[in-house]
Amino acid sequence: MKRSAPQIITVAILLMMVYPALVGNRHQASAELGSTPAPMKQLQDASKNLFLVFSINNIGYIDVCGCKRKKVRQGSITRRAAYIGQARYHHENLLLIDGGNTLFGPDDGKKKDFEKKQLLSKAKLIIESYNRMGYEAMLVGHHDLTLGLSALLEFQKQASFPLLSANLVYADDRKPVFPGTAIIESGGLKIGVLGLTIDTIPSYFLERANPERPLALLNSIETAKKLVPQLREQCDMVVLLSANHLDTNRQLAAEVDGIDLMLDPMIELGNHKIWIDEEDSLETINNTLLARTDSQGARLGTLDIDWIEGGGPMVTLSVEEAPPAGRSTYWYERASMEPHLLEDPEILQMVDAFRRNAEFLDIEKLPPLHNKDKYLTATTCSVCHVEQTEFWQKTKHATAFASLVETGDQWRQDCIACHVLGYGQAFIAPEDAEPYKNVQCENCHGLNPDHPRDPVNHQWPSVKETACLVCHNKNQTLEDFVFIRKRPQVACPLMPRN
Ligand code: HEC
Ligand code: HEC
Ligand code: HEC
Ligand code: HEC
Repeated sequence: MKRSAPQIITVAILLMMVYPALVGNRHQASAELGSTPAPMKQLQDASKNLFLVFSINNIGYIDVCGCKRKKVRQGSITRRAAYIGQARYHHENLLLIDGGNTLFGPDDGKKKDFEKKQLLSKAKLIIESYNRMGYEAMLVGHHDLTLGLSALLEFQKQASFPLLSANLVYADDRKPVFPGTAIIESGGLKIGVLGLTIDTIPSYFLERANPERPLALLNSIETAKKLVPQLREQCDMVVLLSANHLDTNRQLAAEVDGIDLMLDPMIELGNHKIWIDEEDSLETINNTLLARTDSQGARLGTLDIDWIEGGGPMVTLSVEEAPPAGRSTYWYERASMEPHLLEDPEILQMVDAFRRNAEFLDIEKLPPLHNKDKYLTATTCSVCHVEQTEFWQKTKHATAFASLVETGDQWRQDCIACHVLGYGQAFIAPEDAEPYKNVQCENCHGLNPDHPRDPVNHQWPSVKETACLVCHNKNQTLEDFVFIRKRPQVACPLMPRN
């Protein structure tokens, strides 16, 4: 849905026409006290406004997304909190919900024990900030289970909002672990929210999540078929949070009647889409509106809904014509978390405390470093390769650690590995970090510990693209990383050969 400037103006005019109706609606309670109804009142009363704001796939992010994208500077929970504060000022009935996969990233399951403490304290920070922002429901996505069910149950205790999953059950008695639905009242509307966790998760993942009492997942479509009609009876609007594959979610919308809105993470080929293209942001199937937004808290989805009893299915406010009489309408937009949104001071304080404490690892759980001796560091290489060392020193790789220090992120486990040499192999504790700071020779050339002793018989292979991709992956790089284009910028001068 691309809109040009004149179209936006038309929409603004349209909204201005609708606005008095909303204001009238807000004062409806006092107006009803005895005064004669105005001629238009019937119509005004019929429409109830709801400003629904949603995040999906936060995947453990608390600050701006990816590294390169730091220049675009989108994301961060501090800005999100500031945005929500502003939005509440403009919208009386704001409903804030999260479509799951919120607390941990896709790679966090591979993290070692000593790294988990920091991941848990980051997740705790996310929940606390959600409490303060006023979230009213969150889906349990499978990434939220990455560090185990017991951790997630602790987070449920901490949260002032329900974590929802109607189909995550204990394998033995098939009883749900979390509540499956929530009914939220906002601005005179009853909104039924149903949560469905992805039902294709392999059983070993579910066993690992709770070894003492294995978990299972019920079929999402069958669960929805059972619960949607019940919610439908009790509520004005039914919202489904379903972190299932795109195909499943489309099938769900097609086969289960009565879902007004589905928040869909757009999972294709097992991957969560991080950036949602404009043309993918909305889809309508069988009267259900599927709405999407970007991952990592970069942009929030917002739906400005004018709900009319019996006015479904919702139609978008159109630039060409007024909506059909009696129909509920919505206006979808993505709110980009950019720097013009100041950082919420309270949340910022929490984030800063997290950064300061990030230095303190689970010292008892540090694994032995068997490979430490294999890392020689740039200092060793520089003795014999002066020209290459001088070249390297002029590249950004040689100052990559300083980039982290700038924002106080240098001891964070979700940052450090790509900005140093041999994290987790050559060093872990901050006091040992000095020789390993920055992206060094061995990050690209690989390890070859016997080379200095006998260079002729211990040669290095040429530097391959795979060496770069460890760090220059899609999350981290704004433009696609094209090896043949980037290589010349970092390839050291060749040695003179005869
Ligand atoms: C250990 C992780 C790591 C590896 C391996 C790595 N890089 Fe980088 N690269 C970085 C980081 C981090 C930065 C940003 C440093 C900064 O600005 O502080 C960077 C920056 C760059 C830049 C500069 C970007 C710019 O626009 O100025 C180029 C070019 C680059 N890398 C190319 C490569 C190539 C080619 C390879 C493989 C031969 C490679 N990198 C391997 C982490 C890595
Ligand atoms: C998977 C590897 C990886 C991780 C993890 C990572 N970075 Fe980076 N970082 C990179 C690469 C690659 C670049 C260079 C990107 C480019 O120039 O395209 C970079 C660049 C940067 C830059 C320079 C940005 C610029 O535009 O000049 C900063 C600052 C930075 N990272 C901070 C962080 C912080 C903070 C974290 C943790 C929240 C982090 N990085 C985690 C790989 C990583
Ligand atoms: C004691 C001196 C010495 C040290 C220290 C040293 N090199 Fe070398 N290096 C050499 C010599 C001599 C050659 C040329 C070998 C030949 O002609 O086959 C060489 C060749 C290379 C080459 C070219 C490919 C090859 O194997 O012939 C690369 C790449 C290289 N070194 C990287 C490194 C890196 C990275 C380090 C640090 C980890 C390092 N060197 C440390 C002496 C050294
Ligand atoms: C970002 C990746 C990267 C980093 C970091 C890096 N190099 Fe290189 N280096 C290359 C590439 C690419 C070449 C070109 C030859 C090749 O492809 O193997 C090269 C070439 C060389 C050569 C010449 C090889 C030859 O065949 O003549 C030497 C020696 C060398 N590097 C040493 C170093 C040393 C020492 C450091 C650290 C001070 C270092 N490199 C850091 C990527 C890197």
